[in-house]
Amino acid sequence: MNITVTHGDIVEQSAAALVVNHFEGLQSPGGATRALDNKLGGAIRALIASGDFKGKLGETAVLYPHGEILATRVIVVGLGRSDEFSLDRARQAAGAAAAKAVVLGCRSMASVVHGAGAGGLDARSAARATAEGSELGAYQFNEYKSKANTKVLSNVTLVEMEAAKVADMEAGAHEGQVFGECANFARDLVNQPPNMCTPSYLAAKAEQIAAAFGLTSKVLGVNEMRELGMGAFLGVAQGSQESPHFIVLEYWPGTTKMGERSPVVLVGKGITFDTGGYSIKQANDMPEMKSDMGGAAAVLGAVRAAAMLNLPVPVVGLVPTCENMISGGAYRPADILTAMNGKTIEVTNTDAEGRLLLADALVYARRYNPEAVVDLATLTGAAMIALGRGGAAAVFSEHQPLAQRIMAAGEASGERVWPMPMYPDYREWMNSDVADVKNSAGDRYAGVGASAAFLKEFAEGYPWAHVDIAPVAYAVKGQMVKPYGCGATGFGVRLAATLLKSWE
Ligand code: BES
Ligand code: MN
Ligand code: ZN
Repeated sequence: MNITVTHGDIVEQSAAALVVNHFEGLQSPGGATRALDNKLGGAIRALIASGDFKGKLGETAVLYPHGEILATRVIVVGLGRSDEFSLDRARQAAGAAAAKAVVLGCRSMASVVHGAGAGGLDARSAARATAEGSELGAYQFNEYKSKANTKVLSNVTLVEMEAAKVADMEAGAHEGQVFGECANFARDLVNQPPNMCTPSYLAAKAEQIAAAFGLTSKVLGVNEMRELGMGAFLGVAQGSQESPHFIVLEYWPGTTKMGERSPVVLVGKGITFDTGGYSIKQANDMPEMKSDMGGAAAVLGAVRAAAMLNLPVPVVGLVPTCENMISGGAYRPADILTAMNGKTIEVTNTDAEGRLLLADALVYARRYNPEAVVDLATLTGAAMIALGRGGAAAVFSEHQPLAQRIMAAGEASGERVWPMPMYPDYREWMNSDVADVKNSAGDRYAGVGASAAFLKEFAEGYPWAHVDIAPVAYAVKGQMVKPYGCGATGFGVRLAATLLKSWE
């Protein structure tokens, strides 16, 4: 998508659609909406007076001018009530307008910057939210439909009357576009079916990012992982025909080199398909498990965003990736694995595989002497039960400043996060009779605390946070946050990229 900022009057733009907005409950429109309404002879006022359009958040109405303006149609989008307005609502409104433009087959759209006028947002943030929402709302995944899709929104012009605001808006729009585009990059990875999106596919994508943006990438194979002693990860991987990979993607800003400045390390769970292994999942629960590499996608997308925005902080993305399958060679419940730090793990449930990958990656992370390590993983159904689908990601951290940063990034990015406790007694649930620790407590009430207690055994020597994105990685009809629509959300890209910006 091409997004530009123009100094001018919205009513004079020629585009397939003009987008203006309206606050719920307001009788007569103000600002740009009023100017356009005057030009259209009161058509927007009539729309509001009819009661057919209330201005609820994300509600849209379409009007067709009779030659009074150059544009083919007008989309009026609701901002919700003005006393409930926020940056995220500006983003959601932009998403709804873009999604509507796509449905109508518009290739171009000229939009006001939502929230920059009566909404009271600063110009840069408002433009950022409008650009980001437009990217997210216009997203489609139809690679496998044999009928070609002709409905693609490719040009968005943000129009601003006040010349003094334009430079700030350009900076904001660029940032929003990068965030939205990188989130969509992650959504593509997650939406790909598991026969396409294999561990090698993810490794190739990481290498493409490295080549395109001048990053360092390294992909470790089975032999190197064996030498490093990544027995937990390799245990999960051994049941699959697909080779596992340990992806390392490094972004060193400017002339910075490893050892000169501590990086922030992001770790992403990259299970390209999770059958559960011998602790097999129910048939109905299985198709969604193509999204079990949502953490990996988020990490690749966030490192990509950091590079595109030339952030000053070094970032390392670590992605252990494999399938969790069943075969004559697969790991069994009762197997004992040895992780890279020498700790032994009794596998009580082969479906608690994500934490085994993360264990080795968290030990590997230590070699960077990191400023902080944040892992993103679709780790537990329990997090989804606790917070609801689309509710929020669950954040676990004993490092208060890092937890605070993540909470603030959640607020700013609109990707919601919610803190969970890490009580020391949770660790006792993970005691094994035969090994140092077991991978599943085996009690359904242990779900949320146990996973973090397990991971903590391997995240030693640096500030660490674990973000369980299972509740928010994948949207199903009727149960999800806007402006995503159905399927992959790309959750974590915008959260992590915003977090990285906090080290600017
Ligand atoms: N990938 C799943 C978690 C998941 C479930 C993500 C639903 C998204 C939607 C994970 O590997 C898993 O199977 N977790 C188990 C752990 C249990 C066996 C301790 C779970 O949550 O049931
Ligand atoms: Mn599983
Ligand atoms: Zn899983």
